[in-house]
Amino acid sequence: MTTDAPSILVMAGTGKTGRRLVRTLRATGRHVRAASRSGEVRFDWSRPATWQPALAGASAVYLLAPEDPALAADFVTQAVDSGVGRFVALSGRGIDQIGDFSPGMVAAEEAVRKSGVQWTILRSNNFSQNFSEDMWRQPLLDGRLALPMGATPEPFVDAQDIADVAATLLTSPGHHEQVYDLSGPRALTFAAAVAMIAEATGRPIRYVQLTPEQYRAELLAEGLPPEVVTAMDVLFAGMRAGHLAEPADGVRRVLGRDPLDFDTYVARAAAAGAWS
Ligand SMILES: NC(=O)c1ccc[n+]([C@@H]2O[C@H](COP(=O)([O-])OP(=O)(O)OC[C@H]3O[C@@H](n4cnc5c(N)ncnc54)[C@H](OP(=O)(O)O)[C@@H]3O)[C@@H](O)[C@H]2O)c1
Repeated sequence: MTTDAPSILVMAGTGKTGRRLVRTLRATGRHVRAASRSGEVRFDWSRPATWQPALAGASAVYLLAPEDPALAADFVTQAVDSGVGRFVALSGRGIDQIGDFSPGMVAAEEAVRKSGVQWTILRSNNFSQNFSEDMWRQPLLDGRLALPMGATPEPFVDAQDIADVAATLLTSPGHHEQVYDLSGPRALTFAAAVAMIAEATGRPIRYVQLTPEQYRAELLAEGLPPEVVTAMDVLFAGMRAGHLAEPADGVRRVLGRDPLDFDTYVARAAAAGAWS
């Protein structure tokens, strides 16, 4: 394959879904450009001079939303002008019901809908890998995960399922103007999820239920910017209200198989040393 063959630009190619998507596409022989600030292809939302070089030769884009909503439409326009004919945009489940927890995702959805080319939107539940590769890992290692969630369950979705869905949508026809809600196969409370991880690792880990006020105070004390704290507050309020609690059928509709279960995720992550 020559390097100037049409390629798929995977944004956030170092992230939880992007990294897996790059691997999945390359395993089927696709020419992939993995883009981010520290990735193989340099792309930085805050440096528009990096956008055009990153887009060179790309016919399709896996789009992750910018934090700044003002950037999404400009990027999508530039991408279409440089030859991109298809977008698969990762967004958040509940974005219509929960309100303004991510203006960037709202803007990215709107930009691809108006792009004039093929688009598909993926609206995802919380990733299982948040427990092992992101914000909930260190609290688990410290033996205490504290969140403002009670009995409302969450059908955590495996990032590999998102990658598999995105790979299919980026490489096969028939998904234009579709919005897929992606979740795992069953909803679990955070307390149950933590108990499963504690059992698999043999570590004593407690789930602690916080009030929204206590959660905001903890995040601010950790040094998170106030706007991020507000966004998390809005997101958890929507989760407590049950907007994300029902399992969704997007993985089955696209892949024709059930999503990976949280048990499988925990076993694999524990075996890979995620909490060692
Ligand atoms: N995590 C979830 O449960 C979840 C659920 C639904 C939707 N989402 C959405 O999925 C997206 C990814 O979130 P995530 O939390 O899972 O993070 P992630 O993809 O695991 O990591 C963030 C990625 O973005 C890249 N990045 C960060 N700042 C950037 C910038 N200024 N320019 C270009 N690339 C940048 C990082 O790479 P470099 O550091 O190399 O730049 C990294 O690859 C977000 O839009 C999020 O809202 C997440």
